[in-house]
Order: sequence, then C-alpha cells, then structure tokens
Amino acid sequence: MNHLSEAAVRQINEICDRYAEEQTPLMMILSDIQKEYGYIPLEVQELVSERTGVPVAEIYGVVTFYSFFSLTPKGKYVIGCCLGTACYVKGAQQVIDKFSDMLGIKAGQTTEDGLFTIDALRCIGACGIAPAVSINGKVYPKVSPASVAGIIEEYRAKGNN
Ligand code: FES
Repeated sequence: MNHLSEAAVRQINEICDRYAEEQTPLMMILSDIQKEYGYIPLEVQELVSERTGVPVAEIYGVVTFYSFFSLTPKGKYVIGCCLGTACYVKGAQQVIDKFSDMLGIKAGQTTEDGLFTIDALRCIGACGIAPAVSINGKVYPKVSPASVAGIIEEYRAKGNN
C-alpha cells in the first residue's frame, strides 16, 4: 500500500463509503475506481478489501474476469477492436492482427510510450458497419487491414495533446 498517496487512499476510502449501505457494493466500488484512476492495481484491491471486508482473492477474481476492469494503466488511446460474430466474419481478426503487428503489442497490452492499448471487444452494437473499431468512443466503420496504418497515424499525430 506504500505506493498509494494519502490523497489516493482517502479517495478510495471515500468511494468505498459511498456504497456502505449497499448489500453487494463491490461492482459499484470497482467501477468508480476504474473510472477515476483508469485501472485497479493490487494495492488498491487490498485497500478495498480492508475497507469492505471482501477478501482480496474475490476482488482480484472480479477485476480479472470483467474486461472493463484493468490491472494496469491503459494507453491514452484505447483501440477497441470488435471481435463479435458480425465483425469476425467480415475480417475483424485480420484487423486486430494488423493493429498488433504495427504497434508491437497484443490485445490487452499497452505500448511503451503509453499512447495505445489494444482491447478485443464483443459486439459493440455496430454490426451494420462491421468490422467496427472504437477508439476512445469514436467508432470507425468497415475497417480493413489496409486502413489500420492511417488510423494509427491519426492518433500519433495527436500524440499526447
Ligand atoms: S459484432 Fe461487431 S459490432 Fe456487432
């Protein structure tokens, strides 16, 4: 827990207390922490465990089971590649492979410069424009491996701004 600042400890305790009246507060607590910090490392899980009495193993199980929780910080741009059925049959695997090749990371990983994370997603509700890729909420329609370089370039140009 020594990695956490006093302010972070205070804030996480405050998030835990927010749901003190709930019968099963864990998902709500973890969702708020994920939104606030972008990830839920082990020392934060330990703090939540102390505050709520839920064993760390259980918290760890939840964090690793649901893909919207993350143990490590995500990149500035999260490239969500849909691998749902409609996208898959239209070549989504080749699209995510191309992102992986060009960025040198696999799904779930983040580039060393902290700019990009690749996430493999289930259906994001854009089957009509499959294969769909969502980057920080912006949806790209009918993405092909040939269009991947241009998309990456668009975000590299923005960089950390
Ligand atoms: S399967 Fe990809 S958007 Fe529905």
